[in-house]
Amino acid sequence: MHTLRRLGRYLKPQWRHILRGIFFMGGYAIFSGFSIGLVIPIINKIFRRSDQVPEEPLGVWTGLQSTFSRAQDAWNSASGGLKARFGETRDVFVDGLVQIQDRAEPLDVLAWLCVVSLVAVLLKNASDFGRKVAFIKVEQGAAESMRNDVFHHMVQLPLSTHSKYPSGQLVSRVITDVELVKQFTINTAAAFVHNLIQVLLFLGITLWASLHLSMVSFLIVPPLVLITGKLASKLRRQSGRAQERIGQVTSSLNEILANVRVVKAFTTEDQETKRFSEITGGYRSAAVRLLRLDSMAAPLSEFWGVLIGVGVLYYGGQLVFRAENPLSPERFFLFFLALVSMLHPMKVLGNVITRFQRGAAAVDRVFEILDLPKETDLPNAKRVDRFEHSIRFENVSFSYDEGRPVLREVSLEAMRGTTTALVGPSGGGKSTLVDMVPRFQLPTSGAITLDGVNTQELKLKDLRQLIGIVTQETILFDDTVSNNIAYGYPQASREQIVAAARTANAHEFIEDLKDGYETVIGERGQTLSGGQRQRLAIARAVLKDPEILILDEATSSLDTESEVAVQEALDRLLKNRTTFVIAHRLSTVMGADQILVLDEGRIVERGNHRELLSRPSLYRKLYDLQFRDEEATQVVPDLP
Ligand SMILES: Nc1ncnc2c1ncn2[C@@H]1O[C@H](COP(=O)(O)OP(=O)(O)O)[C@@H](O)[C@H]1O
Ligand SMILES: [Mg+2]
Repeated sequence: MHTLRRLGRYLKPQWRHILRGIFFMGGYAIFSGFSIGLVIPIINKIFRRSDQVPEEPLGVWTGLQSTFSRAQDAWNSASGGLKARFGETRDVFVDGLVQIQDRAEPLDVLAWLCVVSLVAVLLKNASDFGRKVAFIKVEQGAAESMRNDVFHHMVQLPLSTHSKYPSGQLVSRVITDVELVKQFTINTAAAFVHNLIQVLLFLGITLWASLHLSMVSFLIVPPLVLITGKLASKLRRQSGRAQERIGQVTSSLNEILANVRVVKAFTTEDQETKRFSEITGGYRSAAVRLLRLDSMAAPLSEFWGVLIGVGVLYYGGQLVFRAENPLSPERFFLFFLALVSMLHPMKVLGNVITRFQRGAAAVDRVFEILDLPKETDLPNAKRVDRFEHSIRFENVSFSYDEGRPVLREVSLEAMRGTTTALVGPSGGGKSTLVDMVPRFQLPTSGAITLDGVNTQELKLKDLRQLIGIVTQETILFDDTVSNNIAYGYPQASREQIVAAARTANAHEFIEDLKDGYETVIGERGQTLSGGQRQRLAIARAVLKDPEILILDEATSSLDTESEVAVQEALDRLLKNRTTFVIAHRLSTVMGADQILVLDEGRIVERGNHRELLSRPSLYRKLYDLQFRDEEATQVVPDLP
């Protein structure tokens, strides 16, 4: 019930379209009822023509007029005389039609019928169109706002939640599941009402046409509908399986194409082709099974339909031709048409439950995301717009998974304007530690303070506004160079952007690009080299001009040449800033005000370069291993 109410929130803004859709549903029902009602005059003409002489031929126009006035009479007698029962009214109406027929020339009747049926069918289909368009608007509008909602919520989820949900999963929640919600709840609800109206209408017609035949038919129709329903549900299961298989085909294709370099390097083309053909083979057999069932559905369904038809025809025909004539031919055919028209909407209604079930599963998956707690500020979070003194970690411990601590009792103080270098074996917790400064992760115990205030009490936006981050993988967007530099600062002027690019040693290579600053750099900046991407990321940080800077292996993946360019850029960026740097570059680490050696989540050594080298230490070991070669090939700045 709760879920329904939440779904309703997305439908509420669409109420105009919903009302319009329902109006057209009504129109459709009326005109389809009217269309099959036309069988009465036709049949009547065929069956009664011989034994009645027309009194006075009527033209098409008079025919219509007369029908209208008859209908009016009928209406008057129904509304005026309360005694006239509904059925009698209908009789008056039908008898009216019959009488016109009786008096008319067959050809006039034919012309008359042609016009009337054309108009009726036209109106019926126009209603159908109107209904569809109205509900398409409802569905698309609801899906749009649901997608936007999920997206808005998703970007506010903490990073820890993002790492629990693989990005592929989140993508499919936004795309596929919302699509399924649209298809199987909103669409199904509309189809339910639409088909229910029709079933009720045709049911009314059959009951009115012949109570007797109705009773007989309702003994045979439901079981047949049930059997077709069974087949349909088998089909559905099978189609789910085929869907899964095609998913495997896509994901395997994606994986191989993304790693085609590796495939070539290891010359595994044949092996991958074989693996791929196994997957397509799996899809083929699932698809064949599905399509076989699917092909069975139409003939079977037609056969059931004809079976019902033949049964009713035979039984009803006997009633018609019996001497005492308990059923008039026109009523019989009306009954027959209404019954046949009822089959399809009944089948749809039979599917409604399973469709809703599929929709409900998708609804749950979407709401599961919307129910994940997002990053929020405390109710009375403090504003902060500058950083004055220091950042402190006080006994900070952290674990991603319970029982596997990644940081243990870490304490440190980074004074404003100083550089803190983090070194240590890979997996020691360096990245995790710096992630805690912008509150990407929250400590399991302990506190991180900024100028003495726990960062958890600060407004998250304000805190992050103070911090600039450059990491090993630079994240660029498929946009122009200048928009990538000005990311988060759309108001930046061209001068500011160029100045930032100059500081980042990026201006020259940008000028050399095809369209300079307006060059679109492609998905993830694939058209640029690693060093170029890195310098764009640095330019972005320069433009942001943050108080606090975090460099997480910002130069690790670069070749020597671009490393020099990037390093220069970084040195400029570092000036007068409070910096946390994780680096394998000797100069950055050596010049740091304090070096913290992190091993298995603990700070095992601290001091500056000279202090740490002066005694046997893990730092000295790392230094020997990691930096010695570098030292030999590079000009090492003089140590103080
Ligand atoms: N999102 C995550 N979920 C679970 N464990 C993680 C996650 N990120 C890192 N870890 C683990 O935390 C430990 C420290 O990782 P990290 O901080 O990246 O180390 P470093 O940057 O020093 O190489 C590693 O054992 C790593 O496997
Ligand atoms: Mg790391």
